[in-house]
Amino acid sequence: MIKMEKGKISTAMGSSNIALGKYWGKRDDKLILPMNSSISLTLGEELSTRTSVVFSDDFKEDSVYINGEREVVADSSKDESGTVLRLLRAAAETTSKCLVVSENSFPTASGLASSASGIATLTYAASHALGLDLDATELSKIARQGSGSACRSLFGGAVKWNAGTMPDGSDSYAVQLFDQNHWPELTDIIAITDARRKRFPSRAGMKQTIQTSVLYKARMAYVNDALTAIETALKDRDFETLAERTMRESNDLHAVAMDTWPPLFYLNDISKAIIYRIHELNDSAGKFIAAYTFDAGANAHVITTAQNADSVKAELSKLDGVVSTMRVGIGAGPRMLGDSDSLINANDLSPILKH
Ligand code: PMV
Repeated sequence: MIKMEKGKISTAMGSSNIALGKYWGKRDDKLILPMNSSISLTLGEELSTRTSVVFSDDFKEDSVYINGEREVVADSSKDESGTVLRLLRAAAETTSKCLVVSENSFPTASGLASSASGIATLTYAASHALGLDLDATELSKIARQGSGSACRSLFGGAVKWNAGTMPDGSDSYAVQLFDQNHWPELTDIIAITDARRKRFPSRAGMKQTIQTSVLYKARMAYVNDALTAIETALKDRDFETLAERTMRESNDLHAVAMDTWPPLFYLNDISKAIIYRIHELNDSAGKFIAAYTFDAGANAHVITTAQNADSVKAELSKLDGVVSTMRVGIGAGPRMLGDSDSLINANDLSPILKH
């Protein structure tokens, strides 16, 4: 076992991602192995997490602060941060406890609380703090076991999480399809329609879907076709195909959610008004200029191009019930920050809490 008397403080920044081809359902709950592959865009640092980590033998227990609040971290597969810390400690052959201080760049009460940026950034920062020399593929496998969608945030640009077929998960990790400079005009306009934390956590929701939804079997039969179309549309910068496939994929996810028993309704009436409005905008433009997509929540991500971003944002802001809108670009993967950005006091290893 490696002793870490007073380790180094590592600070990293990483972004969230939005799935165009969605992950919904696991073939292995413990290892977080998905039923199908998925494709996402890594978002810009407007929607990011900054995390500082230090390991030390002086700590009696792990302390994890997220947005100023101390979280209870359990060493169980149900705990997202706890799982990542357990796997990294095993890789580093240490039992040292750690201090983690994490802040989101977006307001906590925006309904955007995303495990993807948090878990991906924790994986990245903690692996550096432990002096581990793991590549993005290995980090992606570790982040996946914390929270599935987080494995895609280890890369920038357009990213595919290959479902893999191996029972041990060794071939289930994210790969970069295209970097953030491939199609830099792509823009995400986020419309907040519900600032609360989501009601049905995706982990429990997708499990219920697999167990009860008849439509889910139909989804499994064609989801790979949708992913191929999305990947080709990204490669060719073909917004028409990307937009239609993205909207249909979102609708399909919410169809199987509603077919779950008891049903899962993630969209609210304002989400539906956004869906109608985007179809109207596309109809009046005579082509697809914007595409909505919703994860397990009511807030919209509207994918458009830089050319139409301001007008789409203005249209969304006008809708009754839209609390706020945010324009976000395509981002790079996580990166290390310098000491001046640290959220941990180097003198006494205490957290620097912003909230
Ligand atoms: O990784 P989780 O447990 O947060 O699940 C994510 C599920 C969706 O956001 C709905 C889809 C996706 O691929 O991100």
